Amino acid sequence: IRVAVVFGGRSSEHEISCVTAGSVMSAIDTDRYEVVPIGITRGGDWRVVTADPGELAIVDGRLPSVSDSGDGLALALDTPATFLEVAPDAVPRLVGRVDVVLPLLHGPFGEDGTIQGLLEMVGVRYAGAGVFASAASMDKVFMKALLTGQGLKTGPYLAVGDRAWATDRKHVLDNVAALGDVVFVKPARAGSSMGISRVPDATDAEAVAAAIEAARLHDPKVIVEAGIRGREIECGVLEGLDGRAPDVSLPAEIHVAEGHDFYDFEAKYLSTGSSLSIPADLPDEVTRRVRRLAAEAFDALGCEGLARVDFFYGDDGEVYVNEVNTMPGFTPSSAFPQMWAATGLDYPALVDRLVRTALN
Ligand code: DAL
Ligand code: MG
Repeated sequence: IRVAVVFGGRSSEHEISCVTAGSVMSAIDTDRYEVVPIGITRGGDWRVVTADPGELAIVDGRLPSVSDSGDGLALALDTPATFLEVAPDAVPRLVGRVDVVLPLLHGPFGEDGTIQGLLEMVGVRYAGAGVFASAASMDKVFMKALLTGQGLKTGPYLAVGDRAWATDRKHVLDNVAALGDVVFVKPARAGSSMGISRVPDATDAEAVAAAIEAARLHDPKVIVEAGIRGREIECGVLEGLDGRAPDVSLPAEIHVAEGHDFYDFEAKYLSTGSSLSIPADLPDEVTRRVRRLAAEAFDALGCEGLARVDFFYGDDGEVYVNEVNTMPGFTPSSAFPQMWAATGLDYPALVDRLVRTALN
């Protein structure tokens, strides 16, 4: 079975996608699967790469990437592409036979339904969520609207669109002030904490405006979320086998490294101080509730294949869904594979399950 692993890409999570792909390619059962690594450069060029998965790792704080030039941390590039050729001005052309694609892309142009649409158009099977669920889950505003529309609880939030920010800034800042004390200002469509600021006081208009501008460097659409006092919990979800309900892993709790106000990029990937407790030390009733809500969120968005659902277990006893990630990180520090390992599905078995589900 020939598996194309697609990674890198045009989003700000390019490097994390490379690390995810490195982990997956190191773990995949090569007796069963023939891996075709396809890197997408930051500029959007597709290359079949001769990747040594070991190179696709964070080494001394340096992040790997798919480079045009072959310099530095770049991968050795084998051009022209042998299996899948995508010319920017032409319909993609399948040059060789690929049985299934693992689109291990995080963020826009990959996790957001775009590559999924491309693969639908050319009729290639792929792992993970389809076009709509990918697009809906990538946009934190639409995601929350869909979740709350189906009875799931999320924290209070506010969307700040490009036009509102340009024309009615004062109104936006008044609405943010009404959200409470601590707020998180985020690009609506990004991941890995890119462009996120924590503002300790929502009534501090200057700080809020600066945070909105910082988020807008990533996306003209911004979301402001009320901070929720509580613990950060997440669960892995896998599409059920043979039409059964989704399977949900044991939950993890995130412990953010000292010196970080929140789980920012550095605390996530670069610091050794952050850690995960798996299973999260929660009352049994809360664990059951979190796992049930994870499956409900997966279904509410119409996810397929896999997802990681992130929660806050509030000091008020409520469980809030924070977000759904349709292509969660698979890096060595990522929760998704670790939660599944603790639930009895080791890394190779997890990758195998994703491929099999996609082929079904
Ligand atoms: N967006 C990152 C990769 C995650 O959700 O794990
Ligand atoms: Mg996310």
